[in-house]
Amino acid sequence: MRKRILTGDRPTGKLHLGHYVGSLLNRTKLQDDYETYVLIADVQALTDNFNTPEKVRQNVLEVAMDNLSVGVDPNKSNIYIQSLIPEVAELTVFYSNLVTISRLQRNPTVKTEIAQKKALFGEDGGSVTYGFLGYPVSQAADITAFNADLVPVGEDQLPLIEQCREIVRKFNSLYGNVLKEPQALVGEVARLKGLDGNTKMGKSLGNAIYLSDTDDETYEKIRNAVTDPKKIRKDDPADPYICMVGYYHSIFSKPEYEQVCEECKAGKRGCVDCKKQLAKNINSELAQIREKRRYYEQHQSEVKDILAQGTKNARIITSQTLRNVKEAMKIDYFK
Ligand code: TRP
Repeated sequence: MRKRILTGDRPTGKLHLGHYVGSLLNRTKLQDDYETYVLIADVQALTDNFNTPEKVRQNVLEVAMDNLSVGVDPNKSNIYIQSLIPEVAELTVFYSNLVTISRLQRNPTVKTEIAQKKALFGEDGGSVTYGFLGYPVSQAADITAFNADLVPVGEDQLPLIEQCREIVRKFNSLYGNVLKEPQALVGEVARLKGLDGNTKMGKSLGNAIYLSDTDDETYEKIRNAVTDPKKIRKDDPADPYICMVGYYHSIFSKPEYEQVCEECKAGKRGCVDCKKQLAKNINSELAQIREKRRYYEQHQSEVKDILAQGTKNARIITSQTLRNVKEAMKIDYFK
């Protein structure tokens, strides 16, 4: 039997380069060898966007199109919508007994998100709902509903996978060996920094280059990147290792990277040209993806069919898991 992958994203915005290097590339690479399920986590997105449901709804299709255009192949992988899998909601309720509130409050990902909210909206905006605090439990349900072996994610998700593993161990020790402990798999670039120098690219940080951006939008974002402040004139020597353009070259211009650094250090490379070169490389890496995305934008009913089929396939697995879980928990009445 082939091993299984479960991964996915919250539909709160379009996917960006951070998703691409952190997790999407792994999905496309591994879908030949693993039975792959990609969820669009609308229920999870609602935990902190419950007051803007139209935003979540709109982005379900955007995220589906992002996955398809990057090369998640509907003939190999199943893309599905989380809220259409009721088994996951049931598992979440059962697992919620196996996690303490203080453990959730100590989860580093949850902690960071709460701190970000407070920074954005003040102490009040940071007030935490039961649903939000509990989202790691529903993420554990997402993963274990498929008994997934591998979860390709960005580095920020690691504490959530660890939390899932703990729930699995707790469940198995109490009720018998039913669930599988998943492994996380982080992409080649664990965490892509923002061009503004932020430690992370993120839509809420306003520093993201989207897969769906145009060539010009991409160049415009690169043009504003943080560079070595000591470099004033075109032929001043500079330090490529403290420059965000240099950092992006190391990821998206690999064959040219050494030359970029040498020329930069020697003052033989102006920032304008250097940024143009980076934009050209990123745009050419994304050209095919963007072309495919335009196709799906014009064929949205095809995207909806893909989601419907993926969801149908997903439920075959999750309903079996739920049966096993209920049996183990001795709540399998009238069978
Ligand atoms: N938390 C992920 C994000 O913020 C989305 C997600 C939900 C997920 N359930 C998952 C990722 C299960 C991997 C596995 O994008």
